[in-house]
Amino acid sequence: MDEMISFIFLFNIESFLFLLEKLLHMIQKIFITRELMPESIKLIREAFPSAQIKIQPESEILTPDKLREEIKDTDGLLCTLREKISADLLENAPRLKVISNYAVGFDNIDIKAATTRGIMVTNTPDVLTDATADLTMALLLVTARRIIEAEDYLRSSQWKRWSPLLLCGTELAGKTLGIIGLGRIGSAVARRARGFKFDLVYHSRTRKPHLETELKMKYLSLTELLKQSDFISLHVPLTPETKHLIDEDEFNLMKPTCILINTARGAVINEAALVDALKKGKIHAAGLDVYEKEPISTDNPILSLSNVIALPHIGSATIETRTMMAIIAAKNLILALKGEKPISLINAELLT
Ligand code: DGY
Repeated sequence: MDEMISFIFLFNIESFLFLLEKLLHMIQKIFITRELMPESIKLIREAFPSAQIKIQPESEILTPDKLREEIKDTDGLLCTLREKISADLLENAPRLKVISNYAVGFDNIDIKAATTRGIMVTNTPDVLTDATADLTMALLLVTARRIIEAEDYLRSSQWKRWSPLLLCGTELAGKTLGIIGLGRIGSAVARRARGFKFDLVYHSRTRKPHLETELKMKYLSLTELLKQSDFISLHVPLTPETKHLIDEDEFNLMKPTCILINTARGAVINEAALVDALKKGKIHAAGLDVYEKEPISTDNPILSLSNVIALPHIGSATIETRTMMAIIAAKNLILALKGEKPISLINAELLT
């Protein structure tokens, strides 16, 4: 009789543990790699009231090992461009259904590996177009008109008198701006640049005849664009084809007066070649928001050059844009976890 009771007891404990494990497995797990705007977190909580939602605190660095640990039993990941989502990492994430990237660029994610595993990958296009185009114009103006240098000059009490040659920069009107990549952001820059009376030329994978007419832009081969432009602004995504698109040979083609602006991705330029070009006067100056390795280290030679304006990847950094990005990233995550079509799905072939 005693044996019978302990058998039933043990059997029940085991079934209970088994059921508990199954139940825990059914609870959806979501990992968010940064503290985001509260409205986006609220959307996720409302959509999945019983989900376990973990948010990486801003005060703690998310190491690759910690990320690996976190996503191994996660259903939904909301990450930023700083997290590298490799094939190897995905192999250890058997439950993962969606990677919602808080960025328009997605060069941080192995899309092929995600697609093979049936994991949806989403991004946040459109909402950051204006903010990024604005920052591009800001960099153009700041480098051309020596704004930072002028402000330092004033603050360090060097301003003694007005003088005709004091801190003279370069005029924008009538100069040629070469835009490389005429997608959403590239064309938003072109629209703004028209107002500054630039002559516009562009190079892009595909020609955009309607923009050529509307914005009076001329299509050029990359070589011709590099040779003819007074200012060059980069707006291509980072892909194996665009990595180091601007390298030593390209700098050799540019005018020594050329100002190069990069608000796209750092690795579109070979940074060593850029430093060399700036040091040797192959180009006049550069305005940068992105770098090959971010955050840029303080001993990076780029920061020792006085003809560089360097910003910490703030192209989309306005409250309005970053909030919209967070909301879209949250909605993408929610829709994908519900098995519906996200707003901006990169690997759309998963749904065909
Ligand atoms: C992006 O979205 O790709 C930007 O670089 C960051 O907003």
